[in-house]
Amino acid sequence: MINYQPLYDTLLDLKADEWVALIPEAIEKAFKLSNNGNAAGWLDTLEQLPTNDARSDLNAHQVKVGNKADIDEQSYERLEQQLQSFHPWRKGPYDVFGIEIDTEWRSDWKWDRLKQHIEPLDNRLVLDVGCGNGYHCWRMLGAGARMVVGVDPLLLNVIQFQVIRKLIGESPVYVLPMGLEQIPAATKVFDTVFSMGVLYHRRSPIDHLLELKDCLRAGGELVLETLVIDGKEGEVLMPEGRYAKMRNVWFLPSCDTLISWMKRCGFKNCRVIDVASTSLDEQRSTEWMRFHSLKEFLDPENHQLTCEGLPAPKRAIILANAPG
Ligand SMILES: C[S@@+](CC[C@H](N)C(=O)[O-])C[C@H]1O[C@@H](n2cnc3c(N)ncnc32)[C@H](O)[C@@H]1O
Repeated sequence: MINYQPLYDTLLDLKADEWVALIPEAIEKAFKLSNNGNAAGWLDTLEQLPTNDARSDLNAHQVKVGNKADIDEQSYERLEQQLQSFHPWRKGPYDVFGIEIDTEWRSDWKWDRLKQHIEPLDNRLVLDVGCGNGYHCWRMLGAGARMVVGVDPLLLNVIQFQVIRKLIGESPVYVLPMGLEQIPAATKVFDTVFSMGVLYHRRSPIDHLLELKDCLRAGGELVLETLVIDGKEGEVLMPEGRYAKMRNVWFLPSCDTLISWMKRCGFKNCRVIDVASTSLDEQRSTEWMRFHSLKEFLDPENHQLTCEGLPAPKRAIILANAPG
């Protein structure tokens, strides 16, 4: 069981009382077994995992927890089975007592693209919106953040985070089972807010940008990563149906369109720091994510297009500051 008191104390010091009041109920509701058929099994396995205080390395491309030499062969095999029961592992990679969790995504590549460009995270209070299983939250802590709060509405992501946290031991990193829109407006407490891979899932990208701004203290930094298209200001793709087989993709703006949205929302100093096409080496099926992946989502004859004939995934990273 995670002790959330240090998180509450930090938020209360910053007068985020309204949010603190909502968190316990959100956690309880998310973990109610009736909400998810698999939850009982996951929670059972989580419970059985050893509580540890393993030596971790959060600055390596694989978030590393413990060493193979720390456990015997039987415990290693048991742990591997337990970790596999939380399939699919999408964001990573991790090295857990020598067990290499080769996740669907090389999330470390995204981190490498942005880490030199952002304001150093030393001693900062950081929010990671749509943090998945928390891989980047650990990297943020490794980069010196004072405390990292992730929010993600998907229960399996929150549970995978708790698995890693249980093995690493008490750390100033928390992943809360909620969406950004559940954080009360004007919780302007974070020094840095990340939103990576979320904006295109939102039906209203403008509301998403405004909600992100509402989480930042005056002058704080936004790190926004999202799918984009090539094109001029004003151009934006709204898929008629699925995009790369995903049902919940709404808006893919050009970089200039996105910057114009951000400026209109009041962000300052907006600049693109990276644009990269997603490669078949960055997103792929592995033994830890055995479902279809990017290869099956592209046109087999032309990897510049998705299987629906739309431009293949290209992602931009944009930095901006809240006014103030
Ligand atoms: C494509 S993943 C990106 C994960 C991670 N940020 C990364 O860049 O690798 C998008 C994540 O956003 C989460 N998500 C979807 N809607 C959200 C919302 N309204 N608020 C916060 N997270 C959301 C999903 O559950 C999912 O884990």
